[in-house]
Amino acid sequence: MEQYAIKGGNPLVGEVEIGGAKNAALAILAASVMTDETVVIENMPDVRDTNVLLQAIESIGGIVERIDRHTVRINGSQIHNLVIDGDYIKKIRASYYLLGALLGKYKKAEVALPGGCNIGSRPIDQHIKGFRALGANVNIAHGLIHAEAERLLGSHIYMDVVTVGATINVMMAAVMAEGQTIIENAAKEPHVVDLANFLNSMGANIKGAGTDVIRIRGVARLHKTEYTIIPDQIEAGTFMFAAAVTKGDITVKNVIPKHLESISAKLLEIGCEVEESDDAVRVVASKRLSHTHVKTLPYPGFPTDMQPQIAVALGLSNGTSIVTESIFENRFKYVDELTRMGASIKVESNTAIIDGVDRYTGASITAPDLRAGAALVLAGLAAEGFTTIDEIRYIERGYEDFPQKLQSLGAQIELVDTDKELQKFKLRVG
Ligand code: UD1
Repeated sequence: MEQYAIKGGNPLVGEVEIGGAKNAALAILAASVMTDETVVIENMPDVRDTNVLLQAIESIGGIVERIDRHTVRINGSQIHNLVIDGDYIKKIRASYYLLGALLGKYKKAEVALPGGCNIGSRPIDQHIKGFRALGANVNIAHGLIHAEAERLLGSHIYMDVVTVGATINVMMAAVMAEGQTIIENAAKEPHVVDLANFLNSMGANIKGAGTDVIRIRGVARLHKTEYTIIPDQIEAGTFMFAAAVTKGDITVKNVIPKHLESISAKLLEIGCEVEESDDAVRVVASKRLSHTHVKTLPYPGFPTDMQPQIAVALGLSNGTSIVTESIFENRFKYVDELTRMGASIKVESNTAIIDGVDRYTGASITAPDLRAGAALVLAGLAAEGFTTIDEIRYIERGYEDFPQKLQSLGAQIELVDTDKELQKFKLRVG
């Protein structure tokens, strides 16, 4: 079984290139079939989630051509099937973006109810409410969500919670609706803005993305475009915390520092040095980390997708920290694994109380989900001795070449498939 084998203890030092944002890519790939003309997308991360979505686009008749590893050409003119089903599709949550995209273009779609990371119950009531407000009939039967409309009419939609997924899905469904749609209490995440910029480059008329209120004037059709996806805020943040936990010195390159402000602020608070330039951020950790408190919030607050990574750092800090998870209710599943590495953490409902320890010790652990999996890799890199991490398929959903990028910073980490390979790794790194 594939695992990461890690020998911890090396400070990570050097520069690392950050790839395109997975969560922006998923929205943009779905939206790319909304025109019959050809769309070229650059800076596409080559990760499992985006590849599964490309497979889904091909399965309904979309034409997908890889120009190179990070550039893809998509043409949606031959789409003949509006049903997206199959076991593979349930594995990625963002498959439901095809619902908004196909409903917007063809006024009809049927998509398997999504799965994705098991980080709590993930309702889709706001997506459904938005589609219905635009005039669609929506029902769920036999594990599929079916949405259909004779006409889509612009509407005024107030989101009851700040949701990235529903903001994106409703935005796509509304782009070619008749008249004006206003989404209030919209999510402001960088990938919401990136999708709006992408759709506007195809001729859509979307204003206000990045604020609480998004205004969309329906247009009759969308046209071809060439577009470059923004850098991945969470991949960048993960490497920034890799510097913090290994007492390293890492420069993350090809990033938008503004998107990383909440992460940089916390790193400064816990005693790291953070230097920003136009498209890079350097994090240096030279002393024992200090404790702090953090609460996850929608953007521009501290991202829930960085919660496990900061918890791993606070577990090594000097004092007691409190981490409050306010977005997903089941996002502390990594705590038991981290405890096996020597962490001292107590979870009470949506709060983790962390008493910092001097060091972690290597152990055999399992990745419970994507971001927690990456955070446990950081713990392994900081720990004394060997760590093995199972279920790395979660990590591969969202991190491209994760072990290779870490190796280039001096980490002793390897993907191993057999016990023999693991023994070889242990012998080699001593
Ligand atoms: C997206 C990201 C995920 C990130 C999350 C929060 C993608 C593919 N995934 O997930 O990495 O952790 O944003 O930044 O972009 N909610 C409802 N009803 C709904 C929809 C959501 O109550 O119809 C609730 C959720 O249960 C959660 C909160 O709203 O408590 C935020 O969820 P949402 O922003 O929609 O997350 P996702 O889009 O699923």
